[in-house]
Amino acid sequence: MTFFSYMEQCLYHPIYGYYSRPTVPTASKKGDFMTSVSVGPVFGILLAHRIYHFWKQNGSPRDFTVLELGGHDGTLARDFLAGAQTLDPEFAASLQYCLSEQHPDRLSWISENLKDQVQIIRSPSELNPKIGVVFANEVLDALPVSLYHREDGRWNEVGVQVTNSQLEWDNLDTSFELEGVYQDGYVTEGQASYQSFLQPFVESFQQSLFIFIDYGLDRESLYHPHRTAGTLRCYKNHRTNHHPLDDPGLCDLTADVNFTALTEDAQNLGLQPYPILNQSRYLTYLGRQWLLENPTPHEIRQFQTLIHPNHFGGRFYAAEFTSGEVSRGFMDS
Ligand SMILES: C[S@@+](CC[C@H](N)C(=O)[O-])C[C@H]1O[C@@H](n2cnc3c(N)ncnc32)[C@H](O)[C@@H]1O
Repeated sequence: MTFFSYMEQCLYHPIYGYYSRPTVPTASKKGDFMTSVSVGPVFGILLAHRIYHFWKQNGSPRDFTVLELGGHDGTLARDFLAGAQTLDPEFAASLQYCLSEQHPDRLSWISENLKDQVQIIRSPSELNPKIGVVFANEVLDALPVSLYHREDGRWNEVGVQVTNSQLEWDNLDTSFELEGVYQDGYVTEGQASYQSFLQPFVESFQQSLFIFIDYGLDRESLYHPHRTAGTLRCYKNHRTNHHPLDDPGLCDLTADVNFTALTEDAQNLGLQPYPILNQSRYLTYLGRQWLLENPTPHEIRQFQTLIHPNHFGGRFYAAEFTSGEVSRGFMDS
């Protein structure tokens, strides 16, 4: 099989996939990796500030849909909704908060008290939002990617095969090409298909803000001839390794987001792009009001972790897009 299919099965096989088993602690201190959400509630509170501003800027509509992609275990939903209630009960009351997952059954796992406040959806076509927001934290990096390997002056697609009950690499023919000079041994990922991923959401959310926060690079940096091993990596027990065949379904597999391709794909779907900010700048801007409201020392420590260039602040970026005639409500636009 192609590496793409292998990665898809490792992460999303309905029974054995890494993200299909709700009892496996994935994004948490006890699990395999941390995300901005697992740092603590501050990330959700700051996103509530961002979306509150968009809501106000667009006339405080009474019917306002927020769709979180990759809702995982509901932690971000819980933090966001608590933040929204603190900010303005009228805002909280106007929210229709929806969650989606690759396997929505995973969300049957979310806590009882959250169940009354969120709607789990299988497809955005179930929704008919007048105006709203779609957002995702660390979801695009969890989309399967193809792998390519340079050998004897040409590209092969990387495949996976079983020999004597062992997983092994395989070489498959490909039409993949990259402009530039690449040495034998160079390995890289093909970009995930952001356009097909985004399309159903863009079709439903025609007057909306889209926010994607993730680690990633622009195309030039991703395919730089010196980046000889690509960005694909595995996370297990808070350690990184580069052996994706070792623990199928038992470790996270992830690759950097190609922000150039994401922007192009979003534009092809008619979305308006805005300058991409690193998480440090983005959250500092979102937190300017919150910082004046005497956050606790514990919350300040979370904020520092989220914006620190050596933690989440420097490697993560926030990409925003809008659809339709909405006012973005961010900085000057
Ligand atoms: C790295 S985890 C991030 C979880 C959470 N958003 C956070 O920041 O802690 C990636 C999540 O995206 C989900 N996911 C992957 N593809 C998806 C899709 N097409 N639609 C919705 N969720 C998806 C995975 O199942 C997983 O829960």
